[in-house]
Amino acid sequence: MSDEKIKSTLPTHLAIILDGNGRWAKRRNLPRLMGHRAGFRKLEAIARLARDKGIRYLSVYAFSTENWNRPEMEVAGLMSIFRFYIRKKVEELKSLGVRLRFCGRKDKIPEDLLKQMQWAEDYTAEQKIMDFVICLNYGGRAEIIDAVNALIASKPETPVTEADLRKHFYLPDVPDPDLIIRTSGELRLSNFWLWESAYSEYYFTETFWPDFDEAELDKALASYAGRERRYGGLKK
Ligand code: IPE
Ligand code: IPE
Ligand code: MG
Repeated sequence: MSDEKIKSTLPTHLAIILDGNGRWAKRRNLPRLMGHRAGFRKLEAIARLARDKGIRYLSVYAFSTENWNRPEMEVAGLMSIFRFYIRKKVEELKSLGVRLRFCGRKDKIPEDLLKQMQWAEDYTAEQKIMDFVICLNYGGRAEIIDAVNALIASKPETPVTEADLRKHFYLPDVPDPDLIIRTSGELRLSNFWLWESAYSEYYFTETFWPDFDEAELDKALASYAGRERRYGGLKK
């Protein structure tokens, strides 16, 4: 497939399930947290590549509502990595025209990190080249339940519509993901973008997230460019 064709059929919203950090570390006899650190270093590089290639929305699944069930030390370590990443990267993201956004429940996240997330969002709010969405304490079921409760509280006219519910999602202005990549060989969604993925395309790779690179990203984008999306209609 030609580079031109791939460029002209880029996903507007690329979503990535960053998986395999733990196994990457285990293979190297390193503690799991070293895998998470390597994963975040890789995220910096891939976010920049996505921006350079012209992706308008990049979302990544960094911490799920179920990931609180991991050992306390791993959870605390991950929270520290998030703190470090935001502090270190926000300036650069802004200079690249990237708007940083977070998506998920606000409960359970340490107060100082929550403040930092809010600050980073405000600080980059005007940037328009790429929206970079970090899903942190995100769960698709939680999002739907939160939206349902917000909708009920707004006392809507019934029957409610899909559009009524969508207005109460965490980021209602972000379009549904066109392509969802999952690394590390797992073939599941694990509660990511449940509602929004209704017509998403999928790309799975055996590669652990810290080993994911530009060649892999290009392969995923080329695969996407060759897909025919029909949305239940007939072939064009
Ligand atoms: C993904 O890597 C990162 C998070 C879920 C936070 P994992 O930690 O799930 O890595 P594996 O699946 O154990 O290899
Ligand atoms: C999904 O990965 C969540 C994130 C990548 C943040 P998990 O490693 O938590 O998913 P399961 O447990 O293998 O389904
Ligand atoms: Mg995993």
